[in-house]
Amino acid sequence: MNVYEAIATRRDVRNEFSGAVIDEERLERLLQAAHAAPSVGNTQPWDFVVVQDRATLSRFAEHVGECRTDFAQSLPADRADTFRPIVIEGIEQSGTGVVVTYDPNRGGSHVLGRHTIDETGRLSVALAIENLWLAATQEGIGVGWVSFYREAFLRDLVRVPEAVHIVAWLCVGPVTEFATVPDLERFDWRSRRPLDDAIHRETFTAREEFAR
Ligand SMILES: Cc1cc2nc3c(=O)[nH]c(=O)nc-3n(C[C@H](O)[C@H](O)[C@H](O)COP(=O)(O)O)c2cc1C
Repeated sequence: MNVYEAIATRRDVRNEFSGAVIDEERLERLLQAAHAAPSVGNTQPWDFVVVQDRATLSRFAEHVGECRTDFAQSLPADRADTFRPIVIEGIEQSGTGVVVTYDPNRGGSHVLGRHTIDETGRLSVALAIENLWLAATQEGIGVGWVSFYREAFLRDLVRVPEAVHIVAWLCVGPVTEFATVPDLERFDWRSRRPLDDAIHRETFTAREEFAR
């Protein structure tokens, strides 16, 4: 699979985890891919907590279920109906969680490139996640990004120090297949935008019809 094929095949996975647990060698390759990402000031500000303990996975899944209920209750009736069949995590089915964190203190107080734009640190962590996601696709491993959690709960669950931020919980595991259409599109929650709507030439052209 070349890089364009991996980009086209990559999917956020929730329903297609096979139930098997990823083998250590593959997991190591995925983490190596993540660790090879570009980072502001070459700080590599990420860490990865690999979680495979069944009791921890199930405690996290229960918490995510509560956050899902909170979100569902915040929706107007028509959106709540659309949301109902959408699965938002595969925590237990994937067998492995990777908690990805960001340490803003890595690199000391003079990080080259973060001087005027602080968020470049967190952005670097997102690049590590995308590297892992694409490498996983090539390996036949699914990844599902879960953001339905309260940071304090997850911090306590996997003992992340106060000074370190949590960026993501990734469900990582072998899949039966990669869906061709994102779930949010399949269930009419939201579709992708055409590329033409995202491209501007010379200046940013605000177009009201594309704003939402
Ligand atoms: C920052 C971020 C957070 C996300 N959080 C969740 C989540 O909590 N639950 C979920 O099911 N999908 C989550 N997703 C996946 C998106 O819904 C998914 O990427 C999008 O619908 C497009 O589908 P695709 O990744 O399969 O192309 C998240 C993705 C990103 C980048």
